[in-house]
Amino acid sequence: MMELTGKKIVLGLSGGVACYKAAELCRAFTKAGASVQVVMTEAATHFITAVTMQALSGRQVYTDQWDPRVSNNMAHIDVTRDADAIVVAPCSTDFIRKLAHGACDDLLSTMCVARPRHVPLLIAPAMNVEMWQNPATQRNVQQLRDDGITIFGPAAGDQACGEVGLGRMLEPEQLLEEVIASFQQKVLAGKRIMITAGPTFEPIDPVRGITNLSSGKMGYAVARAAREAGAEVTLVSGPVTLPVPFGVQRINVQSAQQMFDAVMADVDHQHIFIAVAAVADWRIANASEQKLKKNPDGTAPDLKFEQNPDILATVAARTNLAGHPYCVGFAAESENLVKFGADKREKKGIPLLVGNIGHHTFGQDDNTIILFDENGHTILPRADKLTLARQLISEISKRISQHSLFAK
Ligand code: C5P
Repeated sequence: MMELTGKKIVLGLSGGVACYKAAELCRAFTKAGASVQVVMTEAATHFITAVTMQALSGRQVYTDQWDPRVSNNMAHIDVTRDADAIVVAPCSTDFIRKLAHGACDDLLSTMCVARPRHVPLLIAPAMNVEMWQNPATQRNVQQLRDDGITIFGPAAGDQACGEVGLGRMLEPEQLLEEVIASFQQKVLAGKRIMITAGPTFEPIDPVRGITNLSSGKMGYAVARAAREAGAEVTLVSGPVTLPVPFGVQRINVQSAQQMFDAVMADVDHQHIFIAVAAVADWRIANASEQKLKKNPDGTAPDLKFEQNPDILATVAARTNLAGHPYCVGFAAESENLVKFGADKREKKGIPLLVGNIGHHTFGQDDNTIILFDENGHTILPRADKLTLARQLISEISKRISQHSLFAK
């Protein structure tokens, strides 16, 4: 998906070893469809050359406030006038200081001060742990927050200097996700949301089990869309191979019972619960502790099934007087979706149900979904799962803001 198509990003580099990651970030932005204008401080040019950044961005790089290539010689104004965002990555301790004080002593800092008010400034700090923790830096960082500047990271871990701790710049793919998220409406700001995703795995013995074809893609897309919308997201996930969306807390489970236990442990604190997981209806009641052997007489093992708890219905029954958590279910049917979807919403006792045709969605990157609520149903036409997930989050936010009890 070209998530940044049509976006113009000014990528500012200040001095730091993490400049090597800025090369990959520049590439990630352009691959996502953005046009990138690189601006470097003099210090940054000691870590990576303008030649590399020009080759990756496909544009001449600006490093000098007095650059004669700009016809009116006002690069600090011209460069940001049609920008959608300024991203400073890496942002050094000293550059944070400059931003906090409105300094204008090089092109990048002057450009940041001169940016139009509607152009967001997003920074990715990168520095030694002591420099990050220094009270002077923390004062400046707080000032940037107060000024409405968005700060991504930093992360903790091994540092180029050999020390360990907070101060590492986020990885390019994480920054890409954060910048994409910054363009989304924060319709769930301040909300806590729990999502189940993926299949479950019901053991038969230590090496075998029963599972299903759910890839987890839709649940993970919903988790990412919820995070992008500003929610605090807990993702309770069955076994899948997908990366965790940045900023989402994942709890790994295998069986339906484990999923049930993980959900129940924390669901009462949630504003919204979305059950996307394809939970096995039955588990093996007589699962073996040791690997089952073939019977010499050729008979199959005598497996007994028992029903798993219905996680969604149990949570829906706990919804409190304030309407928390607002419950959303998914239904994967193989036919007659409009009727089965409406029936299932009633049966589960939930305000919103998302219906889809199981074999048209499992493992696919796109899908068609139908939303069922008390007023009937609405079809969301075929699109990739992240687009549908964002539409779903927007629909949920509209419904919870209309819900008078929920608002209290
Ligand atoms: O009844 P059915 O399995 O078709 O319902 C599907 C919906 O219920 C999905 O949202 C699924 O995540 C949820 N579910 C659940 N616990 C179960 C079975 C289904 O939460 N044991």
